[in-house]
Amino acid sequence: RLDGVSVAEASLDALRDRLDLTGTKKGCDHGQCGACTVLVDGRRVKSCLVLAVTLDGAEVVTVEDLAPAGDLHPLQSRFLQRDAYQCGYCTPGQLCSATGMLAEARRVTPKQPVQRDGEHPPRARGRPDFATLAHRLSLRPEAELEGVGVAAVLERALGSVPVPR
Ligand code: FES
Repeated sequence: RLDGVSVAEASLDALRDRLDLTGTKKGCDHGQCGACTVLVDGRRVKSCLVLAVTLDGAEVVTVEDLAPAGDLHPLQSRFLQRDAYQCGYCTPGQLCSATGMLAEARRVTPKQPVQRDGEHPPRARGRPDFATLAHRLSLRPEAELEGVGVAAVLERALGSVPVPR
Protein backbone atom coordinates (compact mmCIF):
# COMPACT_ATOMS: atom_id res chain seq x y z
CA ARG A 1 0.00 0.00 0.00
CA LEU A 2 1.28 3.42 -0.93
CA ASP A 3 0.24 6.32 1.23
CA GLY A 4 0.44 9.86 0.02
CA VAL A 5 0.48 9.03 -3.67
CA SER A 6 -0.74 11.84 -5.88
CA VAL A 7 -3.62 10.98 -8.17
CA ALA A 8 -1.43 11.82 -11.15
CA GLU A 9 1.56 9.72 -10.11
CA ALA A 10 2.53 6.93 -12.46
CA SER A 11 3.09 3.54 -10.89
CA LEU A 12 6.59 3.57 -12.36
CA ASP A 13 7.46 6.66 -10.33
CA ALA A 14 5.81 5.25 -7.23
CA LEU A 15 7.78 2.03 -7.53
CA ARG A 16 11.07 3.78 -8.05
CA ASP A 17 10.74 6.88 -5.90
CA ARG A 18 8.51 5.76 -3.05
CA LEU A 19 9.30 2.08 -2.73
CA ASP A 20 12.91 2.31 -3.91
CA LEU A 21 12.32 -0.53 -6.38
CA THR A 22 14.70 0.88 -8.92
CA GLY A 23 15.00 -2.33 -10.91
CA THR A 24 12.09 -1.09 -12.97
CA LYS A 25 13.55 1.35 -15.45
CA LYS A 26 12.28 4.55 -16.98
CA GLY A 27 13.05 4.75 -20.65
CA CYS A 28 10.71 6.73 -22.83
CA ASP A 29 8.16 7.40 -20.07
CA HIS A 30 5.31 7.28 -22.52
CA GLY A 31 4.60 3.66 -23.35
CA GLN A 32 6.96 3.11 -26.25
CA CYS A 33 9.98 1.20 -25.03
CA GLY A 34 8.81 -1.41 -22.50
CA ALA A 35 11.69 -0.77 -20.09
CA CYS A 36 9.18 -0.15 -17.30
CA THR A 37 7.25 -3.41 -17.74
CA VAL A 38 6.01 -5.05 -14.57
CA LEU A 39 3.39 -7.70 -13.93
CA VAL A 40 0.08 -6.59 -12.47
CA ASP A 41 -2.03 -9.51 -11.34
CA GLY A 42 0.05 -11.62 -13.70
CA ARG A 43 -0.37 -9.41 -16.76
CA ARG A 44 2.31 -7.39 -18.50
CA VAL A 45 1.86 -3.71 -17.87
CA LYS A 46 3.92 -0.69 -18.82
CA SER A 47 4.07 0.97 -15.47
CA CYS A 48 4.70 4.43 -16.89
CA LEU A 49 1.19 4.35 -18.33
CA VAL A 50 -0.67 3.24 -15.22
CA LEU A 51 -1.57 5.53 -12.36
CA ALA A 52 -0.42 4.19 -9.03
CA VAL A 53 -3.80 4.82 -7.43
CA THR A 54 -5.41 2.37 -9.84
CA LEU A 55 -3.26 -0.47 -8.53
CA ASP A 56 -4.65 -0.42 -5.03
CA GLY A 57 -5.17 -4.04 -4.05
CA ALA A 58 -3.41 -5.44 -7.12
CA GLU A 59 -0.42 -7.75 -7.02
CA VAL A 60 2.50 -5.95 -8.64
CA VAL A 61 5.56 -8.00 -9.51
CA THR A 62 8.75 -6.22 -10.40
CA VAL A 63 12.09 -7.65 -11.45
CA GLU A 64 13.10 -7.65 -7.79
CA ASP A 65 10.29 -10.11 -7.09
CA LEU A 66 11.32 -12.62 -9.74
CA ALA A 67 14.08 -13.94 -7.54
CA PRO A 68 13.29 -12.75 -4.04
CA ALA A 69 15.64 -15.15 -2.27
CA GLY A 70 18.67 -13.75 -4.03
CA ASP A 71 18.99 -16.64 -6.45
CA LEU A 72 18.53 -16.03 -10.12
CA HIS A 73 15.17 -16.62 -11.71
CA PRO A 74 15.45 -19.31 -14.42
CA LEU A 75 14.94 -16.66 -17.06
CA GLN A 76 17.74 -14.58 -15.60
CA SER A 77 20.00 -17.62 -15.72
CA ARG A 78 19.06 -18.19 -19.33
CA PHE A 79 19.75 -14.57 -20.18
CA LEU A 80 23.24 -15.02 -18.70
CA GLN A 81 23.83 -18.31 -20.50
CA ARG A 82 22.84 -16.77 -23.82
CA ASP A 83 24.70 -13.52 -23.30
CA ALA A 84 21.44 -11.77 -23.74
CA TYR A 85 22.33 -8.56 -22.00
CA GLN A 86 23.51 -5.50 -23.73
CA CYS A 87 23.80 -2.47 -21.52
CA GLY A 88 21.30 -4.13 -19.21
CA TYR A 89 19.02 -1.14 -18.89
CA CYS A 90 16.19 -2.83 -20.73
CA THR A 91 16.70 -6.22 -19.14
CA PRO A 92 14.37 -5.88 -16.13
CA GLY A 93 11.49 -4.97 -18.39
CA GLN A 94 12.35 -7.79 -20.77
CA LEU A 95 12.47 -10.28 -17.92
CA CYS A 96 9.08 -9.20 -16.63
CA SER A 97 7.67 -9.12 -20.12
CA ALA A 98 9.03 -12.57 -20.97
CA THR A 99 7.76 -13.99 -17.69
CA GLY A 100 4.31 -12.62 -18.31
CA MET A 101 4.29 -13.68 -21.93
CA LEU A 102 5.30 -17.22 -21.13
CA ALA A 103 2.60 -17.46 -18.50
CA GLU A 104 0.11 -16.17 -21.06
CA ALA A 105 1.36 -18.70 -23.59
CA ARG A 106 0.47 -21.42 -21.17
CA ARG A 107 -3.05 -20.10 -20.89
CA VAL A 108 -3.92 -19.69 -24.57
CA THR A 109 -5.07 -22.36 -26.95
CA PRO A 110 -2.50 -23.71 -29.41
CA LYS A 111 -3.65 -21.62 -32.36
CA GLN A 112 -4.20 -18.48 -30.40
CA PRO A 113 -1.24 -16.12 -30.63
CA VAL A 114 -0.02 -14.54 -27.48
CA GLN A 115 -1.11 -10.96 -27.23
CA ARG A 116 1.23 -8.71 -29.08
CA ASP A 117 3.51 -7.10 -26.68
CA GLY A 118 4.11 -3.58 -27.86
CA GLU A 119 7.73 -2.71 -27.86
CA HIS A 120 11.01 -3.34 -26.27
CA PRO A 121 13.95 -1.15 -26.95
CA PRO A 122 15.25 -1.21 -30.53
CA ARG A 123 18.67 -2.58 -29.71
CA ALA A 124 17.09 -5.65 -28.19
CA ARG A 125 15.24 -6.38 -31.40
CA GLY A 126 18.47 -7.14 -33.19
CA ARG A 127 19.54 -9.82 -30.77
CA PRO A 128 19.38 -13.24 -32.38
CA ASP A 129 19.04 -15.09 -29.09
CA PHE A 130 16.57 -16.02 -26.45
CA ALA A 131 16.49 -12.65 -24.81
CA THR A 132 14.03 -11.25 -27.25
CA LEU A 133 12.41 -14.47 -28.34
CA ALA A 134 9.14 -13.64 -26.70
CA HIS A 135 9.15 -10.21 -28.22
CA ARG A 136 10.10 -11.40 -31.69
CA LEU A 137 7.45 -14.06 -31.52
CA SER A 138 4.92 -11.41 -30.69
CA LEU A 139 5.88 -9.52 -33.82
CA ARG A 140 5.40 -12.43 -36.20
CA PRO A 141 2.38 -12.40 -38.44
CA GLU A 142 -0.41 -14.39 -36.92
CA ALA A 143 -0.46 -16.63 -39.97
CA GLU A 144 3.04 -17.76 -39.15
CA LEU A 145 1.89 -18.97 -35.77
CA GLU A 146 -1.25 -20.63 -37.01
CA GLY A 147 -1.25 -24.27 -36.19
CA VAL A 148 1.79 -23.92 -34.01
CA GLY A 149 1.41 -24.07 -30.29
CA VAL A 150 2.82 -20.85 -28.96
CA ALA A 151 3.67 -22.50 -25.68
CA ALA A 152 5.38 -25.33 -27.55
CA VAL A 153 7.43 -22.91 -29.60
CA LEU A 154 8.53 -21.05 -26.54
CA GLU A 155 9.26 -24.16 -24.56
CA ARG A 156 11.28 -25.63 -27.41
CA ALA A 157 13.32 -22.47 -27.55
CA LEU A 158 13.71 -22.23 -23.84
CA GLY A 159 14.50 -25.82 -23.09
CA SER A 160 13.59 -26.81 -19.60
CA VAL A 161 13.13 -23.37 -18.12
CA PRO A 162 10.28 -23.73 -15.67
CA VAL A 163 7.70 -21.10 -16.29
CA PRO A 164 5.28 -19.84 -13.70
CA ARG A 165 1.67 -20.56 -14.51
FE1 FES B 1 7.35 2.91 -19.97
FE2 FES B 1 9.08 3.30 -21.94
S1 FES B 1 9.27 3.87 -19.85
S2 FES B 1 7.23 2.17 -22.00
